[in-house]
This record gives sequence, structure tokens and C-alpha cells, in this order.
Amino acid sequence: YGYFTYDPGFMSTAACNSAITFIDGEEGLLYYRGYPIEQLAENCDFLEVSHLLLHGELPDHNQREAFTSAIRQHTMLHDQMADVFRGFRRDAHPMAVMIAVIGAMAAFYPDNNDVNNPESRQVAAMRLLAKVPTVAAWSYKYNVGQPFIQPKNKLGYAENFMHMMFATPCEDYEPNPILAKAFERILILHADHEQNASTSTVRLVGSSGANPFACIAAGIASLWGPSHGGANEATLNMLEEIGDISRIGEFINRAKDKTDSFRLMGFGHRVYRNMDPRASIMRKTCHEVLNELGLHDDPMFKLAMQLEKIALEDDYFVSRKLYPNVDFYSGIVMRAMGIPNSMFTAIFALARTAGWISQWSEMNADTEQKIGRPRQLYLGPERREFVPLHQR
Ligand code: CMC
Repeated sequence: YGYFTYDPGFMSTAACNSAITFIDGEEGLLYYRGYPIEQLAENCDFLEVSHLLLHGELPDHNQREAFTSAIRQHTMLHDQMADVFRGFRRDAHPMAVMIAVIGAMAAFYPDNNDVNNPESRQVAAMRLLAKVPTVAAWSYKYNVGQPFIQPKNKLGYAENFMHMMFATPCEDYEPNPILAKAFERILILHADHEQNASTSTVRLVGSSGANPFACIAAGIASLWGPSHGGANEATLNMLEEIGDISRIGEFINRAKDKTDSFRLMGFGHRVYRNMDPRASIMRKTCHEVLNELGLHDDPMFKLAMQLEKIALEDDYFVSRKLYPNVDFYSGIVMRAMGIPNSMFTAIFALARTAGWISQWSEMNADTEQKIGRPRQLYLGPERREFVPLHQR
């Protein structure tokens, strides 16, 4: 078996070439197409960043208008998609619903099966960027038993999502520009992160030539786990369980105890051995949002900051280079905006769709790409002879 490299968890395997996202884990740097994440988060909206990820360049004025209007053409869901939602229990987790609804789109858009055609790939990308917010918002509406709210195309991307989440047939949603800007920033920070588990899943599924909606549904499934995108929901649940600054020590001790499976959620990263640059921006955004909402003394934010401080002074976390990651503060921001914990990972999926579809397009345009097919080190029995049932 000697000629395979054994690399569980792909700790040291580069599975593709990519020109989209660069991470320097030692220094804590993240660039999309060469631009530092800090500059994009400060100056762009999410669709500009999506254009950058998908097409390689930030759009000029005309390209921005064309891209935005192309997205707007696709924000509605096919009328029959509502029936897919209605097949679920009301208490279904939004991620379970999203996996199914996005997967079902493969049946609604078979014209996107032609993955070798750049135009078909482009239409698939537009459809996904436009429709995933509608799917995410409707999965929430279905949970709370309210009617689905149609997209309002004159609104910005984040505002439209908030409108579909919070408007009702009786009452409009009044967008708050500061919250909308903060929400766009959350989306930008989550938009891509090179070959993480869900992006690698999208590439692996796509490497067989599968329909793009099926690929993205697989990416959503991979994202759901608490070690990956599910960490934002798990972090808020953890902070709620800690409840008070006086109990931080108890939970830090549990995280250090190797006989306890508990981990400090929102802490640690496979690639970063330094502060996750997204976490620093998220902490700043937290301040801005809480100030805007008059929640300067938010106990959850105080608890999180104290938890970060204590962990970063503890030898266990220092020696392992475990720092807060993007998920540590994102939940506090979204909670302050009125978004329930169960929607946090769905919003991560909404944002990461930009990265997934860009990576999927890049892969399909690469003529050297082969079907993904890892090998294994076989540890099972050697050849043996079959024994009939009555002799076993
Ligand atoms: N709490 C306590 N100990 C930890 C933590 C944590 N959050 N993270 C890592 N460790 C320890 C781990 O026990 C191990 O210790 P030892 O060397 O004594 O066995 C060491 O640090 C290395 O950990 P690992 O599990 O080998 O590292 P990994 O690269 O396989 O895992 C991770 C990375 C993100 C899955 C992990 O740090 C973790 O489970 N963090 C909590 C979940 C989380 O916040 N995930 C979100 C990641 S960022 C968002 C995204 O892109 O998905």
C-alpha cells in the first residue's frame, strides 16, 4: 500500500489550483482575489464582493448595475417550491430545509446541467445568489408559522433578506441603514475561505459533473456541522449556557479537560495560528450594532469579551495557538438584530454560496480538473473464503 500519502483530514494536501482566496494562517491574513478582507468589508457591498469572487475583478459602475439587475431577475422562487417547504415539520431546522429546497432546484433548473457551458454556469450562479436568501428567509417564516414574504427588488441585498425575514402581510419592514451595512459586512466576511470542508465538498460533488444546485445542497450539508458553520449557533448556545461571567472558569476548565468532549465554540481554526482577521472585524461590528441599538451593556457581548480575554491568557489556548474565529462574535451581532440562533448557520450558507459557486465555476472551467477520488489505507481482513449461512 506504500504509494499513497496518508493524510486524514487533509492536513497537508492541496487538492486544486485556485486564484480566488488566499489565507496566511501564521500571520492571520485573508485576501479575496488579492484584496485584504479588511478593505473589502469596509468599502464594498456583498454583491460587489460576489462579482469579485466570481469574475476575478471588482465591478466598475456599469458592471455593478448589470450584475445587480441580473440577480434581481432571479430572486423569486418557482411557485411550486412552496410545496417543498410545506412537506416539512414546522420545527424543522432551517439548514435541513435549505439542503432539501436547494437540492430540489436541480429538478426545477435542468437547463443548468450543462456544467461545461460557461453561460449555463453563469445563469446557475445568478440563480443561486438570488434565490438562496429567499430560501433562507422562507425556512424561518415556515418555522414561525407566518406567510412567505416575496422579495422586494428595489431593496439592497441585505435589506431584501431582512424584509423577507421580518415583514408580514400586515406590516412592512423598515430597513435600518446601519444594520443593513453591518449585515452586508457579515456576508462579506463569510463569502469565501478557500478549501474548507464545505467548499471541498462542493468541488468533490461537482468534480463528477453534477448539477450545481445539487453541489450547493451538499455544501450546505457539510457546513451545518458544529466544527464548521454550525459553530455560530453553537457559540451563542454556549454563551447562553455559561450565562454569567462568574462561570467562565468552569467552562474554560471543561474545554481543557481531555476526558470532556466540550470545546470552546468559536475558538480555534485549522489554518489560522493567529487571530482570525474576520473575528477582529466582527468584534468591531458588534460594537457598532450594539451602539446603534442602544445595547451598549449587552451582557452577552461582555461575557464573550471576558471569555476571550481569559482564554487568551491561558497557557492551554496560548500554547495551541487557539484564537477566536469568525463565529465567536457573529452570533451576538445577529442576535441583536433580532435573528434567532437557529438561523445563524443558514445565513452563513447564504453568504458562502458566493464562494461555493465561484469555486465550482473555477473548477469547471479548469480543463485539467479530474474527478475527485481519494484513496485509502485498507485495514480490513485479507482475502477469505465465503461460508454459507447454515455453517456460520
Ligand atoms: N476548545 C478546546 N480545545 C480546542 C479547541 C477548542 N475550541 N480547538 C482545538 N482545540 C485543541 C484540540 O483539543 C487539540 O488539542 P491536543 O493537541 O491537546 O489534542 C488542539 O487544540 C488541536 O485541535 P484539532 O482538533 O486537532 O484542530 P483542527 O484543526 O482539527 O480543528 C477546529 C479545528 C475549528 C475544528 C477546532 O478548533 C474546533 O473544534 N473549534 C471549535 C468549533 C469552531 O469554532 N468551529 C468554527 C471554525 S471557523 C468557521 C468556519 O470556517 O467553519
